Amino acid sequence: MPSYRTIAALAALALTAFWPAARAVAETPAERGRYLVESISGCGNCHTQRGPDGAPVAALTLAGGALVDDNPAFRAISSNITSDPETGIGKWTDDQIVTAIREGRRPDGTLIGPPMPFEVYRGMGDADVRAIVAFLRTVPPVRNVAEKSVYRIALPPAYGPPVVSVTAPSPADHVAYGAYLAGPLGHCIVCHSPIGPKGADFTKLGLGGNSFGGPWGTSVSSNITSSKSDGLGAWTDAEIEHAIRDGVARDGRKLMPPMGFDYYARISPSDMTALIAFIRTIPPR
Ligand code: HEC
Ligand code: HEC
Repeated sequence: MPSYRTIAALAALALTAFWPAARAVAETPAERGRYLVESISGCGNCHTQRGPDGAPVAALTLAGGALVDDNPAFRAISSNITSDPETGIGKWTDDQIVTAIREGRRPDGTLIGPPMPFEVYRGMGDADVRAIVAFLRTVPPVRNVAEKSVYRIALPPAYGPPVVSVTAPSPADHVAYGAYLAGPLGHCIVCHSPIGPKGADFTKLGLGGNSFGGPWGTSVSSNITSSKSDGLGAWTDAEIEHAIRDGVARDGRKLMPPMGFDYYARISPSDMTALIAFIRTIPPR
C-alpha cells in the first residue's frame, strides 16, 4: 500500500499539473476584462478620480471627472464609463463600446479626444476588447456628471480606418506578447516615446522625455530603451520589475505619477516576464 506521504506527494503533483490549466479554462470574459482594466490597462489611472492622498477613490471607480491633462492644446477630463444609463455608458451596446475604445468614436459619431491612447488601442485583440466590455458591464453604476473636455486643437476626422478584426499574439511568444502588453493593452510606449502634435513618435520608441504636470509637480517619462547609459540596459530584470510594480527606481528613488503603479502592481508574473522580454529588445537610444 502506498504510504500517506506518497499519496500526498502524488496529490500535490496532480494539483500543480492540472490546477493552472483548469483555472485558465475557467476564466470568464468578465474576469479577463477585470484583470486587464485593473492591471496592465489601468483605465482607472485616467477614469477614476484621486483623493487628497493621491489614491483612487473607490466609490468613484471609473466614474470619470478626473482632470487628466491641462495644456495649451486641450483640457481633458475623463468620461464616466460605469454602467450608469444617464451619466455613464449604460445605454451603449457592446459594439458601440468596442468602437469607442478601439476607434475613439462615440455612438453619436463624435470623436473622443486625447490623451486616451487610440494610436495603440486600435491594436487590441477582439477577445480582449470584448472582455473589457464584459467587465465594464459589471461595474456598479455611479451617477457622476463629468465636466466636458475642451479641445483648442482640431481633432482629426478619424484616428484611422475602421478596425474590423484583430488577433492578439500568442502569450507563448514572449517578445511579441510583451509588445502587445506594452502597446495595445498598456500604452507604455505612448508615454515613453516622444509625443508631438501627431501623437507618439514610434520611430523614437522608448526614448521618453515627455513632461507630465500634476499635484506631484512635474515628472518626465524615462528612457526605457536598452541604452546602458541612459536607459534600462544596465538594469536587472528584478530592478525593472520593481520600478514597474512598486514605482521604485534602481537608485531607490520613489517614482512619480502618472505611471499607473496602483494598477501595475497586479500584473501577473507571466505578463511581467513577457513585458520585460519585450523592453529588452528596444534598440538603445
Ligand atoms: C491616458 C488617459 C486615459 C486612459 C489610460 C484611458 N482613457 Fe478613456 N478617456 C480618457 C479621456 C480624457 C476621455 C474623454 C475625452 C473627451 O472628452 O473627448 C476618455 C473617454 C473614454 C470613453 C468615451 C466615453 C464617453 O462617454 O464619451 C470610453 C468608452 C473610454 N474612455 C474607455 C476607456 C477604457 C475602457 C480604458 C482602458 C482600456 C480607457 N478609456 C483608458 C482618458 C483615458
Ligand atoms: C501615463 C504615462 C506613463 C505610462 C502609461 C507608463 N509610464 Fe513608465 N514612467 C512614466 C514617467 C513620467 C516616469 C518617470 C517617473 C519619475 O521619474 O518619477 C516613468 C518611469 C518608468 C520606469 C523607471 C525608469 C527609470 O529610469 O527610473 C520604467 C521602468 C517604466 N516607466 C516602464 C513603464 C512600463 C513597462 C509601462 C507600461 C506597463 C509604463 N512605464 C507606463 C510615465 C508613464
